[in-house]
Amino acid sequence: MSTPAYPEVPTTTFADGTSIPLIGFGTGGARGPAGVDVIASALRTGYRLLDTAAQYGNETAVGEGLRRSGVDPSEVLVTTKVAGGDHGRKAARTGILESLRRLGLERVGIALIHWPNPSRGLAVDTWRTLLDLREEGLVLHAGVSNFRPEQLQELFDATGHWPEINQIQLSLARPHEEPHAFHQQHGILTQAWGPLGTREGLSEQFAIRKVAAKHEVTIAQVALRWAVDREIVVIPRSSDPGRQRRNLDLAALRLDDEDRALLASLDLGEESAWDSRTHEEW
Ligand SMILES: NC(=O)c1ccc[n+]([C@@H]2O[C@H](COP(=O)([O-])OP(=O)(O)OC[C@H]3O[C@@H](n4cnc5c(N)ncnc54)[C@H](OP(=O)(O)O)[C@@H]3O)[C@@H](O)[C@H]2O)c1
Repeated sequence: MSTPAYPEVPTTTFADGTSIPLIGFGTGGARGPAGVDVIASALRTGYRLLDTAAQYGNETAVGEGLRRSGVDPSEVLVTTKVAGGDHGRKAARTGILESLRRLGLERVGIALIHWPNPSRGLAVDTWRTLLDLREEGLVLHAGVSNFRPEQLQELFDATGHWPEINQIQLSLARPHEEPHAFHQQHGILTQAWGPLGTREGLSEQFAIRKVAAKHEVTIAQVALRWAVDREIVVIPRSSDPGRQRRNLDLAALRLDDEDRALLASLDLGEESAWDSRTHEEW
């Protein structure tokens, strides 16, 4: 039997029933010619969900990587994010139109508010603009990033619309059970940034090394499988084609109850996570 061209990638659905891959590709830090190559390589490996942001300064490289990959852009969900300085009715619209120009796309797959930045008090206005842009077809799916449950509730109370997705820092080191349960209750998909727990030194931990050795897989595959099993969309970043492929290729790995019990010991608690009531980005 011949090897399939792409790894089999599991999917989940937005509240409107449309499909999204559970494994996408993070592009933070992928800039310039090297960034273009990394993005084209990820798409040729089989990734069909990309994550960028105005703040990353790499939307042009993402658009160029998409064109050079030879993959049909209509098959790829490109995510971008409204930067802190672009909050507000008019500025958010200009921000997304500028993102589209840099990406070279007519519409963006997913548009997120990057951080709530509560000191500005403009998250609801920004959210209204994303809803308008979705209505106009310039944005297929509207969501947010780094919003706490009460901040999501504020958007819903003002507009009657929940974000379709909330991208938060989430890994075995920060499982965020409560926000994830809140999302599921309201039809919001949870997406994990930093899913490999690199910042928390997850790969050094005995528990995850033991599970990886037992199944003869990589530590990253264990971290990603654990999230995907919870219906969480992951967006690992890698500049290496081999790691890009292995991060996407989770089909053969099945975690059991014993593994999950061991992995639960890696939870560092909420205190060490960035708090978006006070942490802001621009
Ligand atoms: N919404 C937000 O506020 C926010 C914040 C941060 C990030 N993000 C998004 O989330 C994406 C992912 O998060 P992240 O980049 O912070 O962290 P990550 O994907 O969890 O970790 C990336 C790091 O892990 C390494 N790596 C990848 N695969 C590996 C493997 N199989 N084995 C060993 N090392 C591996 C990479 O190095 P190599 O390149 O050498 O493989 C890189 O140093 C970003 O690219 C960005 O798109 C969003």
